[in-house]
Formats: sequence, structure tokens, C-alpha cells
Amino acid sequence: MAGTVRHLARPMWQAAGRLSTPLLPDDFLAVVDPLWSARWPAGRVEAVRAETADATTLMVRAGRGWSGYRAAGQYVPLGLGIDGVLHWRTYSITTPPDGSGRFAITVRAVPGGRVSSYLAHRVRPGKILRLGPGQGEFILPDPPPARLLFLTGGIGITPVAAMLRALTRRSGRRPDTVLVHSAPDADRVVFGGELRDMAARKGWLRLYEHHTRGEGRLDLARLDALCPDWRVRESWACGPEGLLAFAERAWRDADVRDQLHLERFRPPPVAASGGGSGGRVCFTRSGVEAEARPATSLLDIGEAAGVVMPSGCRMGICHSCVSPLSAGRVRDLRTGEVHGEPGDLIQTCVSAACGPVHIDL
Ligand code: FES
Repeated sequence: MAGTVRHLARPMWQAAGRLSTPLLPDDFLAVVDPLWSARWPAGRVEAVRAETADATTLMVRAGRGWSGYRAAGQYVPLGLGIDGVLHWRTYSITTPPDGSGRFAITVRAVPGGRVSSYLAHRVRPGKILRLGPGQGEFILPDPPPARLLFLTGGIGITPVAAMLRALTRRSGRRPDTVLVHSAPDADRVVFGGELRDMAARKGWLRLYEHHTRGEGRLDLARLDALCPDWRVRESWACGPEGLLAFAERAWRDADVRDQLHLERFRPPPVAASGGGSGGRVCFTRSGVEAEARPATSLLDIGEAAGVVMPSGCRMGICHSCVSPLSAGRVRDLRTGEVHGEPGDLIQTCVSAACGPVHIDL
């Protein structure tokens, strides 16, 4: 049926456009089936599969307006309606691109996280999600380097799972690949069964699980023992901030920092020094005021206070959260820079209050 609509004769389509102004025919199609809309790309959840107690995979079929993604390891902005409010988040795509318009994401419920909990525990097949274009540079090059190391922790396995699945689909010689994955225990390893099976069957992949409950945090001595030649491998790291900070330090100290690719799900924290003081935040249009700590984003402050905040990636990439600053100064949580003049558009997801702040929201 979608194919029929796509091939409507052009004059007929233009006539429909004139008759329906100011709404476009596309807007009516979106009401009939959101997957037909080209203006508002959307996808439908086709299947839901539990991975661990708190992580769930959603198989999504994208509609005709979605531009897709180009490489394993990229992420997708995803809009989810909950109680009439559209919330945007980004999630790594866990399947390599295959041109089918279908892809998977795997979501772990974050304690207190409304969107992640909804996706991990409450979404059922048939749910419609808004989609942004696949994006990101944390990707597997084609062809891949000869020796790879993936260093992942917790849900940070998701973009790397897409890369490993892409490698299994390649024909010919695969790269010599090491995966060092850190999780609290064996039961909490997302895709644990698949990864172990892959390592057992594929001669090119070695898997080392590091369980923090028994062994503590991963350190350099452990990495040296698990993968002695890590300094000469092209490496990708994704996971909690502690793991990424460890990786950055170790690769920099070994003078091979340019061989390390990092993916953060949150902007790196900066010290609360450099003029950061927090302060009282006034959301002027909502008539809401809240006290902000120096290292908490204005986006988090607003949401906690009940303000409807525009948002997307929550890490300073997509600019969905930009909002006008009416008064005060803010600190960029990524760089520590203090800035802001009345009328400036600020990214609330990576900005903290630096004294009293007024935002036009
Ligand atoms: S939510 Fe994406 S830049 Fe702020």
C-alpha cells in the first residue's frame, strides 16, 4: 500500500497539496499511517526481546521518510511519546545496515529514567517512534584494520555489537579481534549468550569478560594480561565514564591516543571550578523556579522541576535542546567555559547555571 501512495501521479499530488493547504498531503498520510510520512520520519516497533533483567532489544521497521544509516556503530535519534509529550533520546543501532529499513536498538532501563524505563519495560510491538537520521563517527571502517580491540562496559556493548555482527557477515579473512567487556557479573552481560557463542565459533574473535563484582574495576595490569598487544591495535571503547577515562589515560600514556576511538553516552564531566557555582534557575514562560547544582545540566534541572524541555541526544550533538537565555551566565559542561548574553541560544543539555539564570521556556 505504501508503494501505491509513493507512485501517485505528480499532478494529482500537487492538486492535493493545493486543496489541503496549509496542511500538506503528507500530514494526512501521517495520520492514516505514520510510516507513510516523509516529513516526519517514523518507525514501528515490530518485536521486543528481553536481553537481561533491565535491557531490552526493540526491532524497528522504519517508514519511507527515514534516511537510514551508513555504518555499523552509528546511533539514531528516537522520539517517543509518553502521556502526550514527545521525548527525544539517542540510541546506538545494534544491527549493521542492510538496506532493509529494519534495525534494532537495545535499551537498558536507567534508574529514574522515564524514557529508558518505558522503552525497556513497557513498549510493545506496534508502538510508533519518531526517527532522526542515523549518525555518528564511532564506526567500523571498511575495510577494517587487521587487528582490532573493543573495550566495552555495560550497555556500551551496543555499538560494538553492530560492528561484530558486521564482521561476521563479511566474506573472506576477518580481522584478528579482541573484545574485553566489563559488566557487574555474567548475568548482566547484554548479548552474553551471543558473544560467547560467537567467540567459541569464530576463530578471529577472542572474548574476555571482566566482572567488576568479583574483580573490581578494570585496570592497566589486567588489560596487559588480557590483551598484551593492545598498544598496536586499532581500538574502540564505549561504556561508563570510569572505563572511558581509564582508556583515555592508558592510551595517552602509551603515546597511542590516535589509535583509540571513544563513544560517550553523556558529555564528560568537568570540574565544578572555573567560576561554576550553580544558582537559581527561572523558566520564565512556565513560571517555574528551581535551584541548580554546579554540575547539573539545565535540561535535567528543568525536567526534574516539571518543565517541558525540548531535547534529543542529551550530549551536545543534535541541538534539539537549544533555548533562549533571557538573563545570567552558563557554564559549558564539556569545556568549563562560562558564557552567555541575553538572547543567546544555549544547549541546555550541556549547560549548567553559573549564578542566577533566566531561560525563555
Ligand atoms: S539534546 Fe542534543 S544537543 Fe542538547
